[in-house]
Parts: sequence; structure tokens; C-alpha cells
Amino acid sequence: MRTPFVVGNWKLHKTVSEALTLVTELKNQLAAIKGVAVAVAPPFTALTSVAKRLEDSAIGVAGQNCHWESKGAFTGEVSAPLLADAGCTWCIVGHSERRTLFGDSSAAVGKKASAVLAAGLGVIVCIGETEAERDAGRTFAVLDEQLAGSLPALAGSEQDFARLVVAYEPVWAIGTGRTASTAQAQEAHAHVRKRLTERFGGAGAGAIRIQYGGSVKPSNAESLMAEPDIDGALVGGASLEAADFVAIVKAARPK
Ligand code: PGA
Repeated sequence: MRTPFVVGNWKLHKTVSEALTLVTELKNQLAAIKGVAVAVAPPFTALTSVAKRLEDSAIGVAGQNCHWESKGAFTGEVSAPLLADAGCTWCIVGHSERRTLFGDSSAAVGKKASAVLAAGLGVIVCIGETEAERDAGRTFAVLDEQLAGSLPALAGSEQDFARLVVAYEPVWAIGTGRTASTAQAQEAHAHVRKRLTERFGGAGAGAIRIQYGGSVKPSNAESLMAEPDIDGALVGGASLEAADFVAIVKAARPK
């Protein structure tokens, strides 16, 4: 079955020395925890140092975004092969902050996702509806549009499916302290699983992990993770403190 996967999205936080302090605490406190895959997504400037510090650890390192081209005249961009070179094994694409603040369209996200897989990394593709879209009854339609444009082409084996993760993050729950109810989250995740089944078949959809994101905290992680289609979490604010992040990882352990 699917190994739960918990990722800390640090966003625009942590100097190199702050990053090393946090990741050293995580490494020590998570070493004994089995059955959950874990990764952290520091800002670009801390990736190399963090990856070096985690060399002898099972904790993975993720980029928060990348460009779809691997090299060239693209001032300010970082490519998937460069992330791999810096020690990343994962990259997040299509986070709602990228979509709303930096104009990443679903088509752009899909190109990024394919570039990440082509570079040999795993990809976390984020989707999620705004509050206005939910209130208008458009949640599933928005998820469908985003999935149609943002998912990478995937041909193959179970191994490939384990390198694709979808993060369902309702925009109204990100950084707001408002979490989706377990029922709302499970309903959305089941819908995503259905679409993944149509696209990749039962074996593929059974292997692809769907993370929940949006104000995940130690106090709500346990009940979210108990839902059958929630396979881990993409954690923002609560991933900046070792104690909170470790508690969320523990809550994701298979029961
Ligand atoms: P949050 O962020 O946990 O601070 O709500 C989640 C995310 O944006 O991935």
C-alpha cells in the first residue's frame, strides 16, 4: 500500500544557519519513527547545506518550485536538474501561492511537473479551490481543471507512480488556521482518486499518494490521517518548529 508522506514546506523562511538548526533537530527526533516518508522544502539558498546535513538520514529534500527548461537564458529561475545537483529528491509545483501571486497556470505547472520527473526527482503537484469557488459549488470542477492541466505525462511502472504525489490544499485553509473538516478533505481526496483512476488506471491511482495541506497542526493531524484517501500532509507554518512537525509525522504513522 501507500507509505504516508509528510512534507514541510518552509516557504520564504529560514537562513542557512536556522535551517541547519531545524533540520538537525528533525534528524535526531525522526530517526526512530518508522513507516512514514518525510521531506523538507527549504528555500533555494539552504538546499545544499540541508541536503548535506541529511546525507545519512532518511529525510528527503524538496525544491519549492522550478522552471520547466533545464538551462538557458532564464534569469532568476532554477531548473529541476539543478535541484537534483543541489541534493533534492523532490520538487513541489503549482502551490497556490505560485498560482495566485506569480501567475503559474495549470499548463505551466504541468510542464514543470514533467520536467521534475524527467530530471529523476519525485514531484508534488498542488491543487485546491478558493473559498469563492467552494461557495459557488465549483470545488470538483476546479480540481478537475487543475488536474487536467497540471499532471505530468506518466507512462509506467509502480515506481513512477510513487514519484507522483498530489497535494490537495484548499486555498481558504492555507495559513488561515481554518482546516477543512475531515469529511470535506476525504470527499475531495476521494474525488481526486477517482480522477487518477480514470487517468492512470487502478494500480496507478492506488500507488499515487494524495497529501492534504492547509493549516495542518498536531491537534488535527491524527483525524485527517485516519481518512482512507489521505496519505500524508503538506505542512506550512507548523513545519517551522521541530516539535510540531515531529508530532504531525507521528500522527501519520500507519495504524
Ligand atoms: P499552512 O500551509 O500549513 O501554513 O496552512 C500549507 C501549505 O501552503 O503548503
